[in-house]
Amino acid sequence: MSKLKTLISEGAGKIDPVSVSEYVGVGGYEALKKAVGMTPEAVIAEVKKAKLLGRGGAAYPSGSKWEHLLHIPETPKYIVCNADEGEPGTFKDKLILGKLPLRLIEGITIAGVVFGAKAGYIYVRGEYRTIQKRLLKAIENAKAAGYLGANVLGTGFSFDIHVISGAGAYVCGENSALLNSTEGKVGRPRIKPPHLAEVGLFLQPTLVNNVESLASVPAIVLKGGDEFLSIGHPDSGGTKLICLSAHAKNHGVFEIPLGKVTLRDAIYDPEMGGGIAGGKQLKFFHLGGQSGPIGSPAQLDTVYSYTDLRKAGLTVGSGAIVVLDETVPILEYLKGVTEFFIHESCGKCVPCREGNKQLLKILEKLSVPGAANENDLANLRRLVTTMTAASFCGLGQSAAVALNTAWKHFKPEFEANVNRGAAAAAA
Ligand SMILES: Cc1cc2nc3c(=O)[nH]c(=O)nc-3n(C[C@H](O)[C@H](O)[C@H](O)COP(=O)(O)O)c2cc1C
Ligand code: SF4
Repeated sequence: MSKLKTLISEGAGKIDPVSVSEYVGVGGYEALKKAVGMTPEAVIAEVKKAKLLGRGGAAYPSGSKWEHLLHIPETPKYIVCNADEGEPGTFKDKLILGKLPLRLIEGITIAGVVFGAKAGYIYVRGEYRTIQKRLLKAIENAKAAGYLGANVLGTGFSFDIHVISGAGAYVCGENSALLNSTEGKVGRPRIKPPHLAEVGLFLQPTLVNNVESLASVPAIVLKGGDEFLSIGHPDSGGTKLICLSAHAKNHGVFEIPLGKVTLRDAIYDPEMGGGIAGGKQLKFFHLGGQSGPIGSPAQLDTVYSYTDLRKAGLTVGSGAIVVLDETVPILEYLKGVTEFFIHESCGKCVPCREGNKQLLKILEKLSVPGAANENDLANLRRLVTTMTAASFCGLGQSAAVALNTAWKHFKPEFEANVNRGAAAAAA
């Protein structure tokens, strides 16, 4: 029996992505029709019952976020969809944006109705140029069919959705940097508090949710929060889109019920990763993007749920599962990760801007026999602690997560080239 689900990917690749009638043919817009007859409180109660955790990486409970925004009296309110998808190894929002844009548009419109919002914005990764055009077409078609724009479904409520293109900066996926960028400012993170629910886009109350989170909302409204919850894990309902890449035999996006498959299933099941390419052995896997943890084969039987992964020192993050085989030296891999963060650091704060450069210097020393001593190892550990604690935003705070978790599994590789006598001789 298949372990996969099609809760939010239903219709992907089977219908014309921009055709409203074909979307309606697979149950599309039934949820919006139901939601306009419900009170905002009733919709939010279902999102809370569903225990939908934000699919953008931080896993914040969407129901609490929605409830908080509902209680803020200031208007106008805005709905912002984070479609920046800058996390390497992550291409799951692309599936929804490219193949089922109307499911996302329906989810954003439901949020618009719930909050009586003025407008919605979808901030899309700059490289997704074709997808941006498709989104605009889908929005136009939804308006022509009366599901968006003036007088949505004859309710008297008017709501429009705008598409904003990113310019290729990873940090613009951080929700406050994303709002700055949407406003036409430099895409750097804001100081928080104030919370974005209170002071968000154009300094107005704002909901920021990931594509996959918002695309889950129609299923929650239609099926009800309890049923959505039962599909997944008791702590986090529904499904997760996971992305298999690198040395996995099969690359792609797969929709799995949370809590019902293991990492081993995800990597080895023929319907998903299909094992390691070229008959090689698995060495490690990198979960949730560059900012996520590295796991070892000993952790393969961990159940893929937010709770189980957290208990094992791992995370869901964006849903990326980058699979690496036995030929990959851990230091080389970590150098690539650190170069990514050097490139993407916005430069606003020292622990991230300088810390990543220093990490790379030490990793390079550790790669050369006899070049590093034990002080370098101690400095590496100190840098990880400082960057995690003192960086201004999530980018710097999580830049060393891969290194820190790799250390636990592959310490001998870090130490292999260290000149043990050098530190003492220098002292
Ligand atoms: C450096 C950085 C990059 C991020 N990139 C993304 C991204 O590309 N897409 C996304 O949805 N969330 C991203 N996030 C998380 C967002 O800040 C935010 O938590 C998310 O959009 C909230 O939506 P959710 O609750 O539905 O997950 C990023 C966070 C950081 C710190
Ligand atoms: S941690 Fe600091 S330098 Fe790094 S991206 Fe965030 S604000 Fe910019």
